[in-house]
Amino acid sequence: MTTADPTAAHDVTDLGLAAEGVRRIEWAEREMPVLRLIRERFERDRPLDGLRVGACLHVTTETANLMRTLKAGGAHVTLAASNPLSTQDDVAAALVAEYGIPTHARRGEDRDTYYTHLNSVADTHPQLTMDDGCDLVSLLHSARPDQVGEVLAGTEETTTGVIRLRAMAADGALRFPVIAVNEAQTKHLFDNRYGTGQSTLDGIIRATNILIAGRKVVVAGYGWVGRGIAARMAGHGAHVAVVEVDPVRALEALMDGFAVMTAGDAAGWGDLFITATGNINVFRREHFEAMSDGAIMANSGHFDAELDLAALRDLAEGHVREVRKNVQEFDIGGKRLNLVAEGRLAAVMDMSFANQALSAEYVARHHSELEPRVYVVPEAIDAEVARLKLAALGIELDAMTAEQAEYVASWRHGT
Ligand SMILES: NC(=O)c1ccc[n+]([C@@H]2O[C@H](COP(=O)([O-])OP(=O)(O)OC[C@H]3O[C@@H](n4cnc5c(N)ncnc54)[C@H](O)[C@@H]3O)[C@@H](O)[C@H]2O)c1
Repeated sequence: MTTADPTAAHDVTDLGLAAEGVRRIEWAEREMPVLRLIRERFERDRPLDGLRVGACLHVTTETANLMRTLKAGGAHVTLAASNPLSTQDDVAAALVAEYGIPTHARRGEDRDTYYTHLNSVADTHPQLTMDDGCDLVSLLHSARPDQVGEVLAGTEETTTGVIRLRAMAADGALRFPVIAVNEAQTKHLFDNRYGTGQSTLDGIIRATNILIAGRKVVVAGYGWVGRGIAARMAGHGAHVAVVEVDPVRALEALMDGFAVMTAGDAAGWGDLFITATGNINVFRREHFEAMSDGAIMANSGHFDAELDLAALRDLAEGHVREVRKNVQEFDIGGKRLNLVAEGRLAAVMDMSFANQALSAEYVARHHSELEPRVYVVPEAIDAEVARLKLAALGIELDAMTAEQAEYVASWRHGT
């Protein structure tokens, strides 16, 4: 069996970019105080000593700090990119050259390279998998079943991955336990809502340079991510309409002050469309045909399949050009529709990765007690992440008085 070796093979675009990567990773670290506190403890306690960790995550400055944390805990970590378009080549270079973490990621890599990279991680025979979208777990179960027995447990970062894992577990196909980091309150309440909400806005503004105020913005999906995007867009002065399939979420959107429409009605109304549903083909041919000239589309969900890009390409009959960096224009019979960043955007933050690091520690300690199914992050980890975050922000909380604690725990008190 191979043991991951920090000096082992890597595949990155240009190791010469490492110095810039280090600068940016250190900058990101300043915004990740919880993860830094965990890393300091990991350096002392080494809870992951000797554990082979295979990770498939967005290769960004934040992920680099998670990788450093796992390594500080004693793990041998190997990393591949979970999304070819979010890979930051300078970060990949820094991970290899400065932090000694075998990394397989090139920005814009094609599908074959993506799977070669994933297989390079699998070649290290991970005992712990760390996924963002379930691709490593899927690869091990489908193409390398003989290796599945070596995996003690996994963690999963995002909603879409958790949905896949639950489907695998329901089919009896999942063969090791996986902790759904996304289900931690300190992940989805904050990172999905505020982090992705902001990075979606930021990505769209950087790519297009448009003014949001006064624009008609359609947000498809009013989950954690969609709520964050809608609130941020409204804060910038946009008129926001929400498209939903869940009646409770639709009602929530309405009472939060947004219009609620069908995708069909929204297509003709809006001029900026953002998907965050985790579903496929939310906007498709009939919607593209109804959109007005100059409409902009972006996807914030995990996969770019939320927009039916095949239909869009088909409608454009080859009239596709890059009008700005990260913006493609599709000319569909004299009407121009714009697509931001090929339908992919992403960012993750401090508390998500604090949950990842503490979940890795948890499974290293408790894997023998776990069954092959999807687990939520233990409440104690959630509470610890929130406590560390507040401590890092210098905010103190009240504790209940003894009288109050007795009161809320008792059924004897009447009116
Ligand atoms: N880009 C990032 O950095 C990032 C970060 C976190 C999550 N995500 C991804 O964003 C997506 C949404 O995550 P979430 O946590 O908000 O999930 P969620 O389950 O809380 O919300 C999804 C919402 O979409 C709605 N929906 C489903 N199908 C729909 C359809 N056809 N039309 C309209 N609405 C529909 C659902 O009813 C639900 O309310 C997932 O793919 C997740 O993996 C991306």
